Parts: sequence; structure tokens; C-alpha cells
Amino acid sequence: MAAKIHVIANQKGGVGKTTLAVNLAAITHAVLVESNSPLRKLEQEEAPSPVMVASTDPQGSSVWWSDRVKNRGGLPFDFAQVDDPRDLSKLRRLAYSHIFVDTPGSLEDERILQSALEECDDVIIPMTPEPLSYDPTRLTIDEVIAPRGIPYRVVVNNWDPRDGTTDLQQTAQFIAKSGWPACKTVIRRYKLHTRASAEGQVVTQYPRNRTASEAREDFLYLALELGYGGSVPALPTQNTGSPASSSARKS
Ligand SMILES: Nc1ncnc2c1ncn2[C@@H]1O[C@H](COP(=O)(O)OP(=O)(O)OP(=O)(O)O)[C@@H](O)[C@H]1O
Ligand SMILES: [Mg+2]
Repeated sequence: MAAKIHVIANQKGGVGKTTLAVNLAAITHAVLVESNSPLRKLEQEEAPSPVMVASTDPQGSSVWWSDRVKNRGGLPFDFAQVDDPRDLSKLRRLAYSHIFVDTPGSLEDERILQSALEECDDVIIPMTPEPLSYDPTRLTIDEVIAPRGIPYRVVVNNWDPRDGTTDLQQTAQFIAKSGWPACKTVIRRYKLHTRASAEGQVVTQYPRNRTASEAREDFLYLALELGYGGSVPALPTQNTGSPASSSARKS
């Protein structure tokens, strides 16, 4: 089956496109490949990843990012710098399930964004919960994405719970008034995410502590909400009429 291509876009810079692309890819890889079964982990360690991040950003922040992570034992997913987004159609034919496409955060690079959109299945639009990101997000959606009729979802990123809910509520109202489909999941602001690129880590490689689990949880919820965990295989049919199964249910 051809890979699903998810473009992460917002012509406003610094709203979290690269952060969402690499961390959604990391979580999707973890859900599809890893597991908490040590046996399966061993089996899958050498297996190729069904997930790729493709960066179309000529400033290449995710290239820099992936280099950092390589120095710390490697990215869990594949990574490619794509200079011509038309090449995404070739990537689709490779054996991936999901390709997350990071795009540039400027109006000048609209041509790149437009050609990435030509190839994609859906668009994820991160926005920060502050009035400064309203207008650029509106431009991106109304002028570039909605006219193409591609399914898209807005995700609020970088909300700091310590700031209270006023900005978050205002942003949710703005999104609702604009009629944009939005994710219920909000990605909270954690210093861990800010430090992650400098330290060369994706969420699934964060240390095992409570804050890191919370930070990871946001991306897990988002991946689940967006349906990136794959389909659930049909369960074997139960012979519900048998005495054994009915006694098992009672016990
Ligand atoms: N949820 C978050 N918590 C903490 N820091 C975050 C979060 N999301 C993004 N950041 C930080 O904000 C900065 C901008 O994020 P990022 O580079 O992902 O944005 P971008 O949209 O890709 O930017 P550009 O348009 O420049 O490519 C980075 O330093 C990143 O680490
Ligand atoms: Mg970026």
C-alpha cells in the first residue's frame, strides 16, 4: 500500500512544524514497530522503519536536527532532505506507511509548500496560542490549503499550562469561529522539547521520568487522534456459545 503523506505547514515561522514532524514520526514509529514486549523489540531492532521524515525546508533545521540525533545513536525513523517536493511522489512508492513532511516557515517559500501539497494526503497545521500567530495561520489556511480541498487539522502547540487557560481559550474560539477543524489534543510547552534538538533527541528517546512521560504523552495522544497508529487487526472470532467461554466470562 502506498505511504500516506502528511504535510506539516504554517507560513508563520517558529510555531513547531519541525518539532511536530519529528516527534509525530518518532511516536508513529514506536507504535507501529516497537512494543513493550522485549521479544518483539529484539525482533524489530534491525527492521526497516515504516516511517520517514522528509524535510523540504531549504534552511534545513530538521537536517541539522537529524545530524544531531545521529550522533546520539540514530533517529528511529528514516530521514531525507527533499530539495524538489515533486520527488515526494517517488518516496510514496517506497515501503513506508507514513511520511511526515516538514515545510519552510515563510511566505517566500510558498512555491515549496505548494508543491509539497500537490503530493500529500493531509495537512497538520501547528499554531501557538497567541494572537501573533492568528493572521499568518489564517493566510496559510484560507489562501493555500483550504482552496485545494485537502483534509487538514489545526493543532495548538506550545501552550504553557502555567500561563492559565485564557490564551488557549481565545485561540480555541478563534479556530472555531474560523470554522477550521482542530485537534482536541494540545501539545504543551516543555523545556525538554526546546532542549531536545540541541541535545539530539526525539520524544521516544527522552529520559524515563515523569515530566518526559507527560511530554511524550501529548504526542501519543495526537498520533492516536490523527489515526497514525495503524488499523486494529480483526480479533479472532470467539465461540461465545461454548460453556468454557461463558464460564470464563462469569469468573
Ligand atoms: N511544545 C513545545 N515546547 C517547548 N518548545 C517548543 C515546543 N514546540 C516548539 N518549541 C521550540 O520552539 C522553537 C520553534 O519550533 P520549531 O523549530 O519546531 O518551529 P518551526 O515552525 O519548524 O520553525 P521554522 O518556521 O523556523 O521552521 C524551537 O526552539 C522548538 O524547540
Ligand atoms: Mg522548522
